[in-house]
Amino acid sequence: MTPVKPMSYPLMEKVVALCRRRGFIFQSSEIYGGINAVYDYGPLGVELKRNVKDLWWRNMVTARENILGMDAAILMHPKVWEASGHVDNFHDPMVECQKCHRRYRWDQLPGETSTCPECQGELGKPRQFNLMFKTFLGSTEEGAQEIYLRPETAQGIFVNFDNVVSSNRVKLPFGIAQLGKAFRNEITTGNFIFRTREFEQMEMEFFVRPGENAQWLEYWVHERLNWFKLLGISPQKLRLRAHTKDELAHYSQACYDVEYEFPFGFSELEGIADRGTYDLTQHMALSGKKLYYIDQEARGEKIVPAVVETSAGVDRTVLTLLTDSYWEDKENDRIVLRFHPAVAPIKVAIFPLFNKAGMPNVARKLYDDIHFKFPAFYDDGGSIGKRYRRQDEAGTPFCITIDHQTLEDRTVTLRDRDSLEQIRISLNQVDSVLTDKLESLIQRNK
Ligand code: GAP
Repeated sequence: MTPVKPMSYPLMEKVVALCRRRGFIFQSSEIYGGINAVYDYGPLGVELKRNVKDLWWRNMVTARENILGMDAAILMHPKVWEASGHVDNFHDPMVECQKCHRRYRWDQLPGETSTCPECQGELGKPRQFNLMFKTFLGSTEEGAQEIYLRPETAQGIFVNFDNVVSSNRVKLPFGIAQLGKAFRNEITTGNFIFRTREFEQMEMEFFVRPGENAQWLEYWVHERLNWFKLLGISPQKLRLRAHTKDELAHYSQACYDVEYEFPFGFSELEGIADRGTYDLTQHMALSGKKLYYIDQEARGEKIVPAVVETSAGVDRTVLTLLTDSYWEDKENDRIVLRFHPAVAPIKVAIFPLFNKAGMPNVARKLYDDIHFKFPAFYDDGGSIGKRYRRQDEAGTPFCITIDHQTLEDRTVTLRDRDSLEQIRISLNQVDSVLTDKLESLIQRNK
C-alpha cells in the first residue's frame, strides 16, 4: 500500500518560510498549536490580498458599465442550500480510520487501500460527507435553527436577483459581482493556502438571454485568463482546461478552469461555468417567488436568464503571486519577490543612509509627503544592504535613499528592485517619477 502523506516541494517550503519570516501569512491560532487548514494574513499579506481584491473589483465592476457589485451576508436561509443543490450534492466520499479516526477522501486514496496510511488501522466503509459547516441561529440551542456557513458567495447573488433588477435599470446581458468569505469543511487540505477551510472568493454571475450562454462562456474564459496575466503572472504557467462531462458540477452544463502550474502541478485558480437557468429556476421553485427579467423591448416578455459564472479564489491567487514571483538571485545573494507593482504590498521604501547629519529629517518629510499616495515604508534600522534585502523579500519595487549628496543638491537615489539599477532624481521629482513608473503599469490593469 502506498502512503498518501503530503509530498513536500522545495519551492513551496521556501515560500511558506518567507511568508512567516516577513509577516505575509501565519497559521491560525498558532500559540495554541494551530488549527488545520486555516490561515491568518499578517501586515504584508493583508496588503497583497487587498490589492488582488481591489484589482479584481476595478476590472470587473468599476471598469464595466453592465456589472454591478453587491455584498450578501454569510449567513443565509437554510432553504437556499436546498435549492442550490448543496444539501444533496455538495459532498465528497470519505473513509475514516477505525483506530486513529483520521479521515481521508476515498477517491484520492490509491485503489484497494484498506488500511490507514498513518497508523495502519482498518479503514471503515466509504460514506458521503457534506462539506458545509453547520451552525445554530438563535439564543438557545434547543430552539435554534440549524443553518450553514456559505460554501460559495454565488447564492447571495441569485437570491438577490429580483432586488437588484427591480432597484436598478439593467438590460440583458448584465452581471452582478461580489467577493467575500466562503467556508468548506474540506476532508483533504494541504499545500498551504491552496485548499483551506475558510477562504475568499471573487465571483460574478453574468445573466444572458438563454441560447447566448455558449458565446458568453467563451468571452469570459478569455477575459479571466487575461486578468491573471495582467497581474504579472508568467503566461507560460497559465492554461485553460475544459471540464470533461463527468467532472461537471451538478449545476453546470460546461466549465473551464484557469489553471496555474504550481510546484505540485497544474491546479485550478478559477472556474468559469455555464450554469444555464439552474439556480434561478431552483430558487423560484423553492421560494415561490418570481425571478424573471422582463424584456421591455419584446413587449414585456418574461425571461429566466441563463448564467455564466466566473469564480476565482483570492487565496489561490495570492499563493500564485507568491510562488510565481519568488526568485533566488544567486548572483547578488538575495531572495526577491518580483511582484508586479500593482500587487506589491509596499510600493516604495524610504531610507536615510545614516541616522545623522539631517538625513532622517529629509527622509521622514519625504515619507510624510508621499505615503498617502503610494503605500510606503520608512526604515532607518541596520545597514543599507540589509534594508534593501528586507524590501526585496517584501517585493517592494522601488527604494529611495537619502544620502550626503541629498543634503548638498536635493537629489536622492532611486533603486529598481529587479535590475538593481540606481538613478539619481531630484527630491521634488519623486512624486512624478513614481507616478509614471507605478501608475502607468497599474493603469494597464483596467
Ligand atoms: N460558485 C462556484 C464555485 O464555488 P468552485 O470551483 O467550487 O466553484 C471556485 O470554487 C474557486 O474558489 C476555486 O477555483 C478556488 O479558487 C476557490 N476555492 C474553492 N475551494 C477552496 C478552498 N477549499 N480553499 C481555497 N480556495 C478555494
